Amino acid sequence: MEPTLASAQEVEKPYNGNDIGFTSMLPSHRVDLRQYSEKEYNKFVNMNTVRDWSTLTWKQVGKPYEVTKYSKDRRAYEDTYGEDMKPFTSWKYFNKAFHEWFVKDVPSEMADQKKAFLKSLGTFRPSEIKQALGDVARIQLWNYAHRIQDGVWDPRGKRALFEGLDVTKPRILFLGAAEGYEAMQLASMYPGAHITMVDYDEYCKTTRFEEFPDSYPFLGENPATGHPKVYYKDDLAIDYVVDDIRNLTYGKDFDIVLSVGLLEHFPDEYKSEVADWHRRFLKPGGYAIFTTPRNQIRSRVYYNIMADVMNHTYRELMTLEQMGLYIYENGFDIKQHGYIKVHNGVVAQPR
Ligand SMILES: C[S@@+](CC[C@H](N)C(=O)[O-])C[C@H]1O[C@@H](n2cnc3c(N)ncnc32)[C@H](O)[C@@H]1O
Repeated sequence: MEPTLASAQEVEKPYNGNDIGFTSMLPSHRVDLRQYSEKEYNKFVNMNTVRDWSTLTWKQVGKPYEVTKYSKDRRAYEDTYGEDMKPFTSWKYFNKAFHEWFVKDVPSEMADQKKAFLKSLGTFRPSEIKQALGDVARIQLWNYAHRIQDGVWDPRGKRALFEGLDVTKPRILFLGAAEGYEAMQLASMYPGAHITMVDYDEYCKTTRFEEFPDSYPFLGENPATGHPKVYYKDDLAIDYVVDDIRNLTYGKDFDIVLSVGLLEHFPDEYKSEVADWHRRFLKPGGYAIFTTPRNQIRSRVYYNIMADVMNHTYRELMTLEQMGLYIYENGFDIKQHGYIKVHNGVVAQPR
């Protein structure tokens, strides 16, 4: 299949090489062309803390924390149909709900929610007040986590996890790609890359990826000079395939197979299969990259407060050691690992 380079389309590209070091909060997200200072790097990135993965045991590291509070929509669905929501259905609900958060004009919504809360007080109806208060808490938390901290995309942290791979013009396979953010960041760092994004929820291709802002700058490298360069979605060669990962028939065609927030959605009996998805399509010497949300107090609070609107699927929060051990014991050598603001990351190669 030929790459779909959308460069014929005129899109706004507001930043260039002169804007390296720039950051700004837009209504729905932050743009961040900063590189870490050493002090910030040491604060937000912690790399290669485990010396020898072969010495870790499950007894030492414990098992992941399961988020058991589900969204209102999932609970309503299960009440109506009298059965558990299937994973594919739960992803459809999740992707739609999550996308609606990404496109919000956050400052304007914060003002509206505050007004609605004050109005609800006048009703003296506890359920109305509780609902309005929940809405205020969620939009404030989203503002902090996504817009101020940039914890969801975290471009500086993701760059720290992805740097130093021995690849040239890599073919990248992104499993469970959603809007495709991390593959675009990765491809910007390794120029000449070709990305194949795979997600079985068509909405991810037609809406989450399509509506990902054309003007969002990814900080990468200029292959001619080795200097930093800004890339945009339409500068990158991307195919988006709507299919179940289990149906893919590629050969060992990819230099990098990546997933972000996939492994933690599978209970232990499926973890080997998920690890195998990352091995099956790798060229010899290729890299499998996994990231999953960290098991830390602030992430538990986040998922519990946001559960109503974004926890439709089975979900675990893991420590880096737990994630690494799943990957190690499923036949990978861990080349690089670390944690960033809200995710753990592992770069591995089949043993
Ligand atoms: C949690 S999301 C990844 C996190 C992502 N960064 C986000 O912002 O939503 C996981 C994605 O994997 C997709 N997915 C899950 N199981 C899949 C399967 N068997 N085949 C293809 N896609 C799958 C879901 O549709 C979902 O979009």
